[in-house]
Amino acid sequence: MASISSPDQSHEPTNKPSRVAILTGGGDCPGLNAAIRGVAKTLMLRAQTEIIGIEDGFLGFIERRSRTLTYQDCSGILSLGGTMIGTHNRANPFDYMGEDRSRAVKEYYDELALDALVIIGGDGTLSIGYELTKLGMNIVGVPKTIDNDLMCTERTFGFDTAVSIVTDAIDRLRTTGQSHQRIMIVETMGRNAGWIALHAGIAGGADSILLPEHPYDINLVADACNQRMGTHHFSIVVIAEGAKPINGEVCTRETIKDSPEPTRLGGIGDQLKQQLEQLTDAEIRSTTLGHIQRGGSPTSFDRIFATNLGSYAAGLVINKQFNLAVIQRGNQLSEVPLDSVAHKTRNIPNDDPTLQTALSMGICFGTETLLRSGAKLNEPE
Ligand code: F6P
Repeated sequence: MASISSPDQSHEPTNKPSRVAILTGGGDCPGLNAAIRGVAKTLMLRAQTEIIGIEDGFLGFIERRSRTLTYQDCSGILSLGGTMIGTHNRANPFDYMGEDRSRAVKEYYDELALDALVIIGGDGTLSIGYELTKLGMNIVGVPKTIDNDLMCTERTFGFDTAVSIVTDAIDRLRTTGQSHQRIMIVETMGRNAGWIALHAGIAGGADSILLPEHPYDINLVADACNQRMGTHHFSIVVIAEGAKPINGEVCTRETIKDSPEPTRLGGIGDQLKQQLEQLTDAEIRSTTLGHIQRGGSPTSFDRIFATNLGSYAAGLVINKQFNLAVIQRGNQLSEVPLDSVAHKTRNIPNDDPTLQTALSMGICFGTETLLRSGAKLNEPE
């Protein structure tokens, strides 16, 4: 957990922000309401700021929809999943239904007489935010996504909750898989990064974890399953939705026009089941967890983390430090220029300590190159 911190308060400006808007964009995730509450309450209490909630992400800016959030509105929402102000993942103001509507966004920002806009979002939303700063909007970004794949920050809120949900699902699939002596495949979300699969796979005691970062050799996965079936009579395989076999393609579930990231992944778990059925005698079942990973109440970790991030972002606004994103590094909150998190994805590096632990534990990743990649296994000095 990041230590409780806030931007330097020793030289707080005397002219405080009078109106600040909050927007949540992209896919929802557990902890958004906690972050909204952290931003809003801190600004209300420290600077008596009026808070405006922009409805449904950037769509609300385009369609001029917003409402004042009172202190009362921001109370009692800490444990709620989703986002109280709504979100949207197809409303890119720079390319909305074939038109550039970014000027309209700036006009509405001016009309609302905002001192700043706090945007809580993932890569797509923060990238749009960065482009809007070029039009003269004061923006502070708060990173969120269950995928944990944003640059510059070691963690995003929503991730811990998603990992807990997947871990719980693996625990449940284990008992039924064990009873029927089956191979149980679990497909997780995460887009093109394997953070959820890796962490939940370890927490759930998976025998194989297949990541987008390392295309898998189906024969190695089959060997690991057959070996485990021989000794334990069941096996758990966790596969990230962005994983693919060597020389194969990622599985696309659908393509959503107008979305900043149009491709929706999904289906690799079922494909893996078919591939494995050719190479093992065991019965196999595949489960795709889907949006269950994004729903419901945030864990206590995500509640605290999102509150810290939101409150820190409010401190930046009060200090008039704009066009920044709040991040966590080395267990400390700090800020980086918004463009350093925009348009980028953070994958699992080969020397990631958790990945190295998993290798030390003999978990199969469907690749031999990982072990030979030059990254040292975790060993005491
Ligand atoms: O980025 C979060 C995420 O849940 C990904 O893990 C997943 O691939 C995608 O969003 C699903 O998007 P949608 O909700 O648009 O189907």
